[in-house]
Amino acid sequence: MTGVIIGTGSYVPSYVIDNNELSQFVDTSDEWIRERTGVERRHIASDETVVSMAAEAGRRAIDSAKIAPEEIDLIIVSTISSDVILPCAACEVQKALGAVNAVGFDLNAACTGFVLAFNTANAYMMSGLCKKALIIGSECLSNLTNWKDRRTCILFGDGAGAAVLRAEEGKAFLPSAHSDGTKGAALTMKSRHDRNGITKEILPQEMIKEEYFMKMDGQAVFKFAVKKVPEVIRDVMKSNDIKQEDVSYYILHQANRRIVEAVAKRLDEPMEKFPMNLNEYGNTSSASIPILLDELNKKGMLKKGKLIVLAGFGAGLTWGASIFRW
Ligand code: COA
Repeated sequence: MTGVIIGTGSYVPSYVIDNNELSQFVDTSDEWIRERTGVERRHIASDETVVSMAAEAGRRAIDSAKIAPEEIDLIIVSTISSDVILPCAACEVQKALGAVNAVGFDLNAACTGFVLAFNTANAYMMSGLCKKALIIGSECLSNLTNWKDRRTCILFGDGAGAAVLRAEEGKAFLPSAHSDGTKGAALTMKSRHDRNGITKEILPQEMIKEEYFMKMDGQAVFKFAVKKVPEVIRDVMKSNDIKQEDVSYYILHQANRRIVEAVAKRLDEPMEKFPMNLNEYGNTSSASIPILLDELNKKGMLKKGKLIVLAGFGAGLTWGASIFRW
């Protein structure tokens, strides 16, 4: 058995902050951000939460799959930025959608999270544990961003993307995924719950200590990504006996245009095979791949029977690539 994607959906907040607006409260410029990252705007939650965005993206994916919520038997929400810990976001999504027959859980593997959610759902299907799964990446990174730190706040945005998978007869492609905890210091953030049980989230941003925001060694992450992503893509293709000419798109985590370009160059593949939307949304962590997947689907760019490679990378450090047939 293998998991086949039968529906996609996404949700992004309507409130947008462009680079010029950002440069009014942090020392940066539209030119610097565009040149170094490719980001032009980011969508930022106002009333939305990880759960509300996940539920809406999930609802849209279920509609596009033309199934009933009751048919879903597994819900995985990949997130690092949920405002609720208990119950998990997946159970809240289950409640919102009426997916009463599903088991739900959250997964934290930062920006590789959606790829690992996809692998997990596939593994459930290969073992006969589930027939229809809803997998979601949903992030409210604006909650974790230090809006005074120009090295990070320019990069991130909020949103959610989702896909419905159905188990079908056929050979599954095996994924390739890795972690290297020894390099974890490159991208860190502490839990905002201090030892007295006071939630830092109720404090104004100025009062939150730096360690409770995302901290990143940008150059270390950049070097890691441009080395490991082409490697893992080559690995996954070799182990599944797939040639580059068989792949129609590489859907990469949308962190930085220069990273995507460097990966394409190292694989010696044309940029047309690497769709991007990070100019519009910035880096939305585990939501970036499913938001892009949904956009390509809506535009009719995904042709039946064609092969697609997904590749994620991020905190942990974690990285991985998976293949599926549309
Ligand atoms: N605006 C203007 N100047 C900035 C700036 C900003 N937003 N951020 C940093 N700078 C300055 C730095 O202070 C530095 O100045 P200095 O030379 O006077 O010290 C200069 O620009 C260069 O900084 P550097 O950090 O070397 O820039 P860079 O080319 O590495 O670009 C990133 C920084 C963050 C864009 C880049 O490293 C990157 O994208 N890394 C990967 C991050 C990522 O994708 N993380 C998520 C992974 S899931």
